[in-house]
This record gives sequence, C-alpha cells and structure tokens, in this order.
Amino acid sequence: MPQLGTLLLLSLLIHACAVICAADTHIIVDTTQGRVKGYQISSQSGHSLQVFLGIPYAEPPVGDLRFSRPIPAGSWRGIHDATFYRSICPQRLQSVQSFSFGYNFNNTSEDCLYVNVFAPTNGSKLPVMVWIHGGAYTLGSASEYDGRMLASQDIVVVTVDYRLGVLGFLSTGDDAAPGNYGHLDQLQALHWVKDNIGQFGGDPDKVTIFGQSSGGAGVSTHMFSPLAKGLFRGVIAQSGISVSPFAFYRPPYKASDTARNLGKIVGCNHSSSQALVTCLRGKSTDDLVNARPQGAPMTSTYVPVVDGYYILDFPENLLGQGHVLDPALMTGTVLNEGADMIDYISGVEKGVSAETAQQAIHSWSRRYLNQTTIAYKAAACHYNIHSADPMVNRQNLIAFWSDYDYVTPNIKMADMYHKIQPNTYMYSFEYRSVNQPDPQWEGVLHATELYYVFGCPFSHTMPCPWKGCNRTWCSGWGVSPLDKTISNEMMTLWTNFAKSLDPNSGANRHQWPHYSVSANRSYLQIRDTSDVQQGLRPSAANFWNQYFPNLLAGKVRQHECHGGVIIG
Ligand SMILES: *[C@@H]1O[C@H](CO)[C@@H](O)[C@H](O)[C@H]1NC(C)=O
Ligand SMILES: *[C@@H]1O[C@H](CO)[C@@H](O)[C@H](O)[C@H]1NC(C)=O
Ligand SMILES: *[C@@H]1O[C@H](CO)[C@@H](O)[C@H](O)[C@H]1NC(C)=O
Ligand SMILES: *[C@@H]1O[C@H](CO)[C@@H](O)[C@H](O)[C@H]1NC(C)=O
Ligand SMILES: *[C@@H]1O[C@H](CO)[C@@H](O)[C@H](O)[C@H]1NC(C)=O
Ligand SMILES: *[C@@H]1O[C@H](CO)[C@@H](O)[C@H](O)[C@H]1NC(C)=O
Ligand SMILES: *[C@@H]1O[C@H](CO)[C@@H](O)[C@H](O)[C@H]1NC(C)=O
Repeated sequence: MPQLGTLLLLSLLIHACAVICAADTHIIVDTTQGRVKGYQISSQSGHSLQVFLGIPYAEPPVGDLRFSRPIPAGSWRGIHDATFYRSICPQRLQSVQSFSFGYNFNNTSEDCLYVNVFAPTNGSKLPVMVWIHGGAYTLGSASEYDGRMLASQDIVVVTVDYRLGVLGFLSTGDDAAPGNYGHLDQLQALHWVKDNIGQFGGDPDKVTIFGQSSGGAGVSTHMFSPLAKGLFRGVIAQSGISVSPFAFYRPPYKASDTARNLGKIVGCNHSSSQALVTCLRGKSTDDLVNARPQGAPMTSTYVPVVDGYYILDFPENLLGQGHVLDPALMTGTVLNEGADMIDYISGVEKGVSAETAQQAIHSWSRRYLNQTTIAYKAAACHYNIHSADPMVNRQNLIAFWSDYDYVTPNIKMADMYHKIQPNTYMYSFEYRSVNQPDPQWEGVLHATELYYVFGCPFSHTMPCPWKGCNRTWCSGWGVSPLDKTISNEMMTLWTNFAKSLDPNSGANRHQWPHYSVSANRSYLQIRDTSDVQQGLRPSAANFWNQYFPNLLAGKVRQHECHGGVIIG
C-alpha cells in the first residue's frame, strides 16, 4: 500500500452518480510536485478506481517556451485540483468535433501539457499503460479516451496531451526551432510517470506505451530515441508505425521550407531562422493554427523530423544498424485503414470510376514522390485500377491507401525488428459490429479497434462524475453480445502484454505466436472467431517493401503491366 494521503470528502457531485455508484468521494495523492485531488469511484461490479484529471507534467509552453523543448513542471503549494480535464491543445475545432469519440471540446489552450491517471484504488506495483492519442499529429486529445475500463483490469492507465500541429512540430531545421516538441512532450510525460506513478499504485519499471495512428507512429519512434532509454519496456503501435511514409519529413522535402512559408503568410517573412521564430512567438495561437502554409507534401503539414537530438536518423536506417531500444513490440492494423481517405470522392457510395481512381493515384504520385510517372504506373498496375466495375475500383483504392500508409510499413518494421527483439507480435483487426453505423462498403475503418481496446461496450457500467463525461461514449450505437466478447478479448490481450510482455494467457482462445519471417509471419486475425494466420497481404508487402523502392532507386526497370500483374 503506497503512501497515499487519503482524504475522503462527500462529493458535491454525488447526484451525478446516484444511481450507479455507492459512494463518490475524493482522494488525495502526493506527487513529487505537490498534492493532487482526484476522484474515487466504484462500479457495480465492485471495481474501485481513482481518477486524476489534468496533472501538469511540463511548464506551460507559452511565450518564450513556444517552439522550445519542454521543461518539467514546477511544484506547487496546497492541493492541485485534478477533478477536471484541462483545455485541449490548439487545433482547428471544426475538425475535432467531427471526430468520432464522445467528448465535447469547446476550448483550446497552449497551456495543455497535462496527464490523466486512472488506477485501481490501493493497487501496488501494477503494470502501467501510457496512451498516446492519434490525429495526424494535428488533432485530438487524451480526453477523448476513457481509461476506466482498462484500469479495471489491474492496470494503471495514463493518458497524455502533447503539443500538436504547428505548435508541436514546426521546425526551422536548426537550433532556432529544432522541432519534435510534441514527441519530446510525450517523453517528458514518461519521466513524470517514472517519478510519480508509484504513488498511484503503478510500477515505474513496468511501463508499456501504446498509441494509434500518429500516436502509434509516435510510440514506435520513441524506440529509436536515445532520450527514451529506460522509460518503457513494451510498445503497442496500432495503425501507425515509425517507418510509415507519414511519420517523418523525408527528402526531398524540408520542414524548414514549411516554416518559411508559414512566416510569409502570417507576416514573419524573415530569412534568419532566429528572426522568424521570434516573430512567430509574437503571433496569436489562432493565427498560427489557422494558417495553411503551402508546400507541405506530407499527409500533415507538421510532422516529426530527424533533428540529431531526439532522433539521429530515420528509423529504417537505425533499424538496419541495430540502433534501437529493445522493448517488446505489438503492432497491427485494421482491415480497411484507407476507407476514410476516399470519403472526399463525390458519389463514392456508388463506387469509383476508373478515371477517378486513376486521378487519385496520379495526385498521390505528384504529391508524395518526385518520380511521378514511374510511381504512378507501378501503383496503378499493382492495384489494377482500370476496372469497368466501380465497386472493384473503390476496393482497390482503399487497399492502396491501407497498404501504403499502414499495412506494409508495419510489415517492414516487424520483418526487421523481430530479429533484434523476438518478442514481436502482429495483429490484423477485421471485426465489424452488426450495429456499426458507417456504410457497409467502408468495412473496418481506421480507429475502429479503439472502441474495443478501451472497453467501450462497458463504459456505461461505471460512474464518471467529472464535467464533460459522456457515459454512453462509444455505446451510443448499441452494443451487441459479440461486441462485448471482442472487447473483453482485446482488453485481455493488451493488458496481458502490459503485465508480462506476452499477450497470451491460459484463458486465451488462441495461442498468439511471435512474429517471424522464418515462421511464415504469423499474426492474430481478430474477428468474429479470431484465428492465427500467416502472411498478411504478402503481395502488397512485396510490392511496397521490395519492388517499389528498387524501382525508384533505378535498381530494377519498370515492368510491363498486364491486367494488374507486373510482367518482368
Ligand atoms: C477558454 O478558456 C479560457 C481559459 O479558461 C477562457 O478565458 C475562455 O473564455 C474560454 N473560451 C471559450 C470560448 O469558452
Ligand atoms: C484503500 O485505502 C483507504 C485508506 O487506507 C481505505 O479507507 C480503503 O478502504 C481502501 N480501499 C480498498 C478497496 O482497500
Ligand atoms: C525531382 O526530380 C528531378 C528530376 O529527377 C530533379 O531534378 C529534382 O531536383 C528533384 N526535386 C527535388 C526536390 O529533389
Ligand atoms: C519575402 O521577402 C523576400 C526577400 O526580402 C521578398 O522577395 C518576398 O517578396 C517576400 N515575400 C512576401 C510574401 O512578403
Ligand atoms: C460547450 O458549449 C456549449 C454551448 O456553449 C455548452 O452547452 C456545453 O455545455 C459546453 N461543453 C463543455 C464540455 O463545456
Ligand atoms: C454522448 O455520446 C453519444 C454517443 O457518441 C452521443 O450520441 C451523445 O449525444 C453524447 N451525449 C452528450 C451529452 O454529448
Ligand atoms: C511455413 O510454411 C511452410 C510451407 O507452407 C511449411 O512447410 C512450414 O511448416 C511453415 N512453418 C510454420 C512455422 O508454420
């Protein structure tokens, strides 16, 4: 039993959970910076949790600290009120409100570097899972994710807000504004965990970091940072990986060009980096967040860079040289990652004409690569986007985006990494609830697995007395019995991994083997009846991980295309 300074108060919010919880009380914990007051809640099934919202882990990155690396939060006297979520980090609110999780965001602030803690009451030396949310490095917030259900599995859950977009990733490519602040914020939060999580019943030596999309890329990029040594022992990268095309500024493109273009838009047209950054520090948050500088060819305008400090080279190069920390790794993707990337195509519900599909691939090749014709021809052939059937073109276009950004980078990482750390697991999430409201053709969309990993089907069974909490979070569209089964299975796999670095347990329906090339790339296929399969999308993996880079490098010649088959 850790040194909890407990103080139980009758809550003013007792009405908020009168039906659900027997008692809603406050609890106080000592941290290295001072005392924090959170909630103690208990569920009908008897789980007792403590919840702390909005604990500062870094100084507010405002004024001169904007575009600077984070510094640890100072201490306070008295009791810090950790009973409400702080403002989310600056982002375009219109975009975030169309995001699918239930929290209603009204306000943003640059003062947003806070963690939230969900922990069993009176736990001791429990495994810790630290969540890094996704949102293309630009959107989202920790407060979209409900840690109560995972915490009920004897885990301490920490969710992290970190700087996003221009404020998180602007880089001049030199010391004036070196970039990667958002990722360094995440590491600062991990230092906070190391120093404080014992007070919340967690074991600082049993930390797993998990994240999705840009958050998955983020956690798997920390594996390559010399600054991250000793901060975690497990990594779960969901639908996003460090070697993905979207995870870094890559040559020939430069983040510093984007910074200069931003300067031109907002009245900071300076050639010296220092003058540019000083000027940008004087601009309002809205001016910076709303500007759309030209010339950024990546999926997002501001993304991580190789800065020689946080990271010394691109992950794929470091991996080849064995310069990587060696945490256990679980990684995976969902069946139709790319489905929401073609939402913009008008009439997409009736399919996609060959002409439109070809335009999409053309525009990808212009935007992402400097070898337009070669890239276009190869991709258009491999994905056979010449069909007279618009339904076939649509599926092929979805597969194209899924493979390019998510699935085959994951395979590339796992193929190399398991040779360094055999404790590597891969999954493919292919379950679609009968109640899912999205159109059937979208299949299993990017981010769908989050509902199950975070135990959404059970979110209504526990009280959440804080402002803004939506107890119907993800069960809004109705929960089927199979949804609950899948969610229980995934929570068990994920928390087993955090507990023992092995997702398997006696109760598992299937033994999930290590991933390895020599054992035919086994992965867990999660669907109505989950099963172990071998070789996820082998032909796409071969195309993107072998043939295509060799083609761009001039090591193989462009082959002829015959009905979607490249003839060499
Ligand atoms: C956002 O929060 C700040 C600080 O708490 C407050 O001053 C401001 O009025 C809020 N804005 C809106 C639109 O609620
Ligand atoms: C946790 O500790 C507090 C203070 O010692 C005690 O009042 C409470 O009953 C304990 N709760 C559980 C679930 O053991
Ligand atoms: C793009 O390719 C062309 C011709 O291959 C080359 O001249 C040009 O420098 C490249 N652009 C960049 C930004 O690397
Ligand atoms: C920025 O400054 C350069 C050099 O002084 C000048 O040529 C250019 O027109 C300026 N651009 C804008 C948008 O003010
Ligand atoms: C957001 O603003 C709306 C309208 O101003 C208000 O009704 C709602 O309670 C606010 N939500 C939160 C979480 O503050
Ligand atoms: C809570 O979430 C559900 C499901 O996402 C949504 O339908 C409902 O409007 C939300 N309630 C509030 C008060 O935001
Ligand atoms: C891999 O596949 C080959 C060929 O199908 C088979 O002989 C071998 O037993 C498989 N290995 C494993 C570990 O499944």
